Amino acid sequence: MLAAEAPERPKLIIFEALYSMDGDIAQVNQICELAERYGAMTYIDEVHSAGVYGPRGAGIAAREGALHRIDVVEGTLAKAFGGLGGYIAANANIIDAVRSYAPGFIFTTALPPAVCAAATAAIRHLKASQWERDRHQERAARVKAVLNAVGLPVMPSKTHIVPVMMGEAETCKKASDLLLAEHGIYVQPINYPTVPRGTERLRITPTPYHDDALIDALAEALVDVWGRLGLPLRRQVLTAE
Ligand SMILES: Cc1ncc(COP(=O)(O)O)c(C=O)c1O
Repeated sequence: MLAAEAPERPKLIIFEALYSMDGDIAQVNQICELAERYGAMTYIDEVHSAGVYGPRGAGIAAREGALHRIDVVEGTLAKAFGGLGGYIAANANIIDAVRSYAPGFIFTTALPPAVCAAATAAIRHLKASQWERDRHQERAARVKAVLNAVGLPVMPSKTHIVPVMMGEAETCKKASDLLLAEHGIYVQPINYPTVPRGTERLRITPTPYHDDALIDALAEALVDVWGRLGLPLRRQVLTAE
């Protein structure tokens, strides 16, 4: 697509740093190479990675050493930072253009000072503290290991996103409803058009504060739901104790 356009035509490659439905990570440097080769600008959405990946939580582009190659970085203050609102970071000309032309920026009420203060405190904390990031990864790894061990169809992912494949919309919604009604656990059902048909899934996002007991209870609840829906569990390899 880039090669098909005239070199002088303005272009912008927009991509997610961490794709929140599969939990995979963009090849940031390769995308930047394409942008440089074809004279395109780059816009990275770090909404699912800001605060939780990279040095001081600066995100995936920073982790990949590619921050200087990115024209616009977008993030949210609502996920890892636990508040509300969002931001873009770019050079002064780009910011000025957005400030001057973006209707949402011009006509939407600004965030109140208390919300900004909360975001500032959260950013300051996560810049200095690595504990949450390390624990987050360790917890996500445990969730994957425990769910895999009971034979659930966990999709492989290198991040804290733990998708469990359902493959069908109605079953996916039923599983989510049963988890909430019978076990008091809410896990979002992800259906089309968020993901392609046939890849409907439950998307589990553990936090640093989910302890072993909660994770074990989740696995037990999912096994119960699988049973109620008549879904097969992968055969487990039993080892002698
Ligand atoms: C990839 C991605 N970008 C942007 C957003 C929007 O962030 P916010 O909810 O803070 O507006 C979301 C979801 O909330 C998202 O998943």
